[in-house]
Amino acid sequence: MTQLANIIKERRTVRDFTSQPIDMDSLINLLDQAAWAPNHGHREPWQFKLFVEGAKQTLLNEIVKSYQRIGITKEYTEEQLIKYKKVMDDFFLNTPAHLLIYMKKQDTQKVWEEDFLATAAFIQNFQLLAWEQGLGMVWKTNPYIYDPEFCDSIGLAEDEKIVGVLHIGYPKKVPKAKERTPIREKMEVVGG
Ligand SMILES: Cc1cc2nc3c(=O)[nH]c(=O)nc-3n(C[C@H](O)[C@H](O)[C@H](O)COP(=O)(O)O)c2cc1C
Repeated sequence: MTQLANIIKERRTVRDFTSQPIDMDSLINLLDQAAWAPNHGHREPWQFKLFVEGAKQTLLNEIVKSYQRIGITKEYTEEQLIKYKKVMDDFFLNTPAHLLIYMKKQDTQKVWEEDFLATAAFIQNFQLLAWEQGLGMVWKTNPYIYDPEFCDSIGLAEDEKIVGVLHIGYPKKVPKAKERTPIREKMEVVGG
C-alpha cells in the first residue's frame, strides 16, 4: 500500500482527546496545505472561525442556547440536564481547538454545490494531513449549525452557511475502523 493509501485507510474519527495543546502555526500550516483541494472557478470557498482558549466557553454557551431554542434539551429532566451539561463542558473545554468551517451561500444550485463539495474536499485534505502529524478530529454537523440565530451569534452573515465543525486534538483513544464495502458491490460496469 502506498503511504497515501495507508493514511487514508488508517485515519479515524477521534472524539476523545488528550490535553496536549496544538501549536497554532502548525495548525495553520496544515490548513494552508489543505487549500490545494480542487475548487471550481478558483473560488476557494472555505472560510474559518477558530475557537481556542476562552472562546471555547463562548462557543459552548451559544450552542447550549441554540439547543434550548431548537428544543433539543427542552424535555430533559433536571438529572438529564446535569449530565448533559457535564458532557458538553468536558468535551468543549477539554478539546484543544474547535474549527468552524463555513462558506458563502451561492445563488445557483450549481455554484452552491460546487463550493460545498470543494469545502468537503478541503476538510478531508485537512483531516489526512493532520492525521499524518498525529492530530485527530471529529467532523460534526450537529443541529445548531442550521440555526440562523446561532450563526448570527458567532458573527456569520445571513448569506453564509456552516459546512461543519471540526473538534481537534491529540487522540486519547482511536476507535476501531468500520469495514468498507468493496466497490464492486456498489458498481455497475456499463459496457466493456
Ligand atoms: C459530513 C460528515 C458529517 C459528520 N457529522 C458527524 C456528527 O455530527 N457527529 C459525529 O459524531 N460524527 C460525525 N461525522 C463523523 C462520522 O461519523 C465518521 O466519519 C464515521 O463514523 C466513520 O468513521 P471514520 O471517520 O473513523 O472512518 C461526520 C462525518 C462526515 C463526513
